[in-house]
Amino acid sequence: MDRDVIIALDFESGEKMIEFIDKFNRKLFVKVGMELFYKEGPEIIKELKKRGHKIFLDLKLHDIPNTVIRATKSLLDLDVDIINYHIAGGSKMLKEASDQVKKSGKDILTLGITMLTSSSEEMIHKEILIDENHSLEETVISYAKLAKESGLSGVVCSALEVRGIKKELGEDFICVTPGIRLPSSKKDDQTRVVSPGGARELGSDYIVVGRPITQAEDPLKAYEKIRKMFLGEE
Ligand code: C5P
Repeated sequence: MDRDVIIALDFESGEKMIEFIDKFNRKLFVKVGMELFYKEGPEIIKELKKRGHKIFLDLKLHDIPNTVIRATKSLLDLDVDIINYHIAGGSKMLKEASDQVKKSGKDILTLGITMLTSSSEEMIHKEILIDENHSLEETVISYAKLAKESGLSGVVCSALEVRGIKKELGEDFICVTPGIRLPSSKKDDQTRVVSPGGARELGSDYIVVGRPITQAEDPLKAYEKIRKMFLGEE
């Protein structure tokens, strides 16, 4: 597994996204989320694959095990590189889904979503009734543990959580981290941000970067700079 930068393609249409990606003239690792996938369907994945890009299909599956297994089978046909699941779906859902991926023999990483970064300490106690004795951080580590025990390859988490997760679950357990900003760039709606170099030092395996690249004046230059910083080449 090689460390890499994954560009979050949060565009409102496939047309805009393709126009953006074709400016790069090189093979990339990209993330397609619900917004684009629900609008454009599997065709958009085929377009990206045709161009040789690696794909993280970020659909965050969460349903009864039988439905998630069937959805996983459909996703396997798309030949993407990363798919993901809400760990809150439980061990049976996670294990059966990851078994399905392993059985396919395809080289696909399966990631778990621990707690969304939009969840606050107050929300997890008041709304989803996680015991007051368990902090958000403890809950994230416990969820990551469940993901590992259920056979997933890793988790999506904040770079600030990577050390705790790897200490508990080992260096090989993959941590993919969004919330990345250059010291000079806007934070947008992210709160706990980390720089590309900071994410490397904290042990992230992949960083997911959207707006600092997609909304940059020169996206290619921004991408190269962020990649070099993350890989420790500058
Ligand atoms: O534009 P920005 O760099 O903030 O984009 C980050 C991407 O990572 C978005 O697609 C966002 O949905 C995703 N993400 C996140 N925080 C999480 C999980 C996913 O920002 N905890």
